Amino acid sequence: MSDELKRASALAALEEVQPGMRLGIGTGSTAEFFVRALAEKVSAGLDIIGVPTSERTAALVRELGVPLTTLDETPELDLTVDGVDELDACLQLIKGGGAALLREKIVAAASTRMVVIADDSKLVETLGRFPLPIEVMPFDLEATRRAVVKAAVSLSLEGEVKLRLNADGTALVTDGGHYILDGHWNLLPDVPALAERLSAIPGVVEHGLFIGLAKAAYVAGPSGVRQISVTTADETK
Ligand code: 5RP
Repeated sequence: MSDELKRASALAALEEVQPGMRLGIGTGSTAEFFVRALAEKVSAGLDIIGVPTSERTAALVRELGVPLTTLDETPELDLTVDGVDELDACLQLIKGGGAALLREKIVAAASTRMVVIADDSKLVETLGRFPLPIEVMPFDLEATRRAVVKAAVSLSLEGEVKLRLNADGTALVTDGGHYILDGHWNLLPDVPALAERLSAIPGVVEHGLFIGLAKAAYVAGPSGVRQISVTTADETK
């Protein structure tokens, strides 16, 4: 995805930000364009307060001087803007490529409105080309991995479920102290059924399927930024 498209989708979402808003601030390279553009507005006098969805975003937001709060201090947010790994036309999402899916989902759920920003290569007919991130407890890792495989097989999904590793071969540890399993299933024809079965596994902390959370997406392509909304018809900005 080119930086121009990332920036274009981020700037479209920035137009939704109003003075006084309590914002959820997403994670990833596209969200970073949003953070940088937001910080410029804050320097110019925009009064907002933000809850970051990861330590990575918190560090950037602090460095750029955007005022921060927490969900303990500010449990209800007006708007969350976040990136996405894959989305479909119904605004079902796969998130967690940056391993921040747990906080991202908590922050999105605390928000009146969540919008996602992406380039058009992430818009797919059926989710699943992007491996599904699943945040799990380290305690019962192999038992949980097998339970995830079993849940997938019960929905006729075939493919590997792999522990996400760092470059040095150690297990990647999330901000919450958990591991990530990535489900390489290629196509997920029944997203709600998979979400339900994964949520029922005790060692699964959270999965990267976001259903009914995003209210709109700003999808950037060569001919402009398209807004996809769950309540209104598509329009081109
Ligand atoms: C992090 C995420 C990110 O939003 C997602 O991975 C998109 O990242 P990028 O904008 O860098 O492609 O879900 O957990």
